[in-house]
Amino acid sequence: MIGPPSSLRATMEVIGVFKDRPILLGVTGSIAAYKAADLASKLTQAGARVTVVMTEAATRFVTPLTFQAVTGQPVYTDLWTLEHHIPHVGLAQNAALLAIAPATANMIAKLAHGLADDLLSVTALAARCPILVAPAMDAGMYEHPATTANLRALAERGVHIAGPACGRMASGLVGPGRMLEPTELAGHIRYLLSRGGPLSGRRVVVTAGGTREPLDPVRFLTNRSSGRQGFALAQAALDRGADVTLITAPVALETPWGAERIEVQTAEEMCQAVLAAAETADVLLMAAAVADYRPAETAAHKIKKDASASLTLTLTRTPDILAAVAERRDRTGLPAVVVGFAAETDDLLRYAHEKLLTKHLDLIAANDVSIPDSGFEVTTNRVTLLDTQGGVERLDLLSKTEVAERILERVRGLLAEAAQPPVATANTRPDQGKQT
Ligand code: CTP
Repeated sequence: MIGPPSSLRATMEVIGVFKDRPILLGVTGSIAAYKAADLASKLTQAGARVTVVMTEAATRFVTPLTFQAVTGQPVYTDLWTLEHHIPHVGLAQNAALLAIAPATANMIAKLAHGLADDLLSVTALAARCPILVAPAMDAGMYEHPATTANLRALAERGVHIAGPACGRMASGLVGPGRMLEPTELAGHIRYLLSRGGPLSGRRVVVTAGGTREPLDPVRFLTNRSSGRQGFALAQAALDRGADVTLITAPVALETPWGAERIEVQTAEEMCQAVLAAAETADVLLMAAAVADYRPAETAAHKIKKDASASLTLTLTRTPDILAAVAERRDRTGLPAVVVGFAAETDDLLRYAHEKLLTKHLDLIAANDVSIPDSGFEVTTNRVTLLDTQGGVERLDLLSKTEVAERILERVRGLLAEAAQPPVATANTRPDQGKQT
């Protein structure tokens, strides 16, 4: 059988945190309501079960049919029809999250004061799930003290306020009041859905990208790391509920929503940042491609060419970050789990195993960067995971997102092992050998 042409295949993959999660999307009467249709579509494609509740004003901008078409679910609009009157309580009770996007100044005022005179405000009052509000209004209305006070009241009650962005509004004015873009809102929703996951309360530090070692004000030495694997690890840790610090060398990637991003340039800067963050971290995932050498001297001015045919650079060693972490870990016990990466072009497993031992790692992800579909600058990776028990897990060719998922599953197991008290033996029982 001939399959659909590639242009017709589903574009967005199902994402674990969204899969089968019931999300209520409240849409109010703003011109940004048309963007809410895109948000509903994105959430549905990611695997969520999206039910839309629209205010009467919202239906003047976009028809309920649009939302029904993109979500495949009935759309609720009216409090005063019998079939809708009862479901609102059930809708709110079963939802994993209520997102109100766009939220007008009027709806924000109603929510702040507990008014309940339409299906959406009634639903919001009945909801006990996390609530996200994405304001959308003219800058003057957004900056009015009444709106500011209402938003503050909602935030103090634990409502997540997403945005607004600055930009051009329907009135032609430029300022704060534009609803966040659907992709950004989907990022906020992803973060809220992940809280309470299996790594809740855990702090995970991830490094990403290739460090830059400056030669002069306009040149540096670096490598071909894109940072994708590190960013995918940060997202996978966030998706499991962890608090994530992402220490990254310069890369052209968006920060996953909810991660704290610390930007560094050189190996030395990355080392300082990692040592500081690792003091309180449960997990360190060292995916960065750290330069092993830097120019011995950084010229203050641009190096000019001269008549000679060659130029010799003197390089000096940078700190080995994992070695520095291992030394501190011996004293403090933190991070409880450390994962390294080995990028090799030959003798992959032997070198990776050596690094596992010399860098005191719990797990190492070895990848052969000499093959075109693995390692630097591509979206896939062919990785083998080696652990300290002699375990060797060869993963298939996977996307970097899938590799990150597999590594985080291993990290969960390692954290659980680290939390177990050491097995008592005849010689090490705490009640034995005590001086009395
Ligand atoms: N790494 C580090 N500090 C460095 C260099 C590397 O912490 N100065 C970390 C990397 O982030 C990675 C692991 O060590 O997790 C292995 O990195 P890799 O570049 O494969 O190995 P090197 O230690 O640099 O050894 P070699 O270059 O000899 O292969």
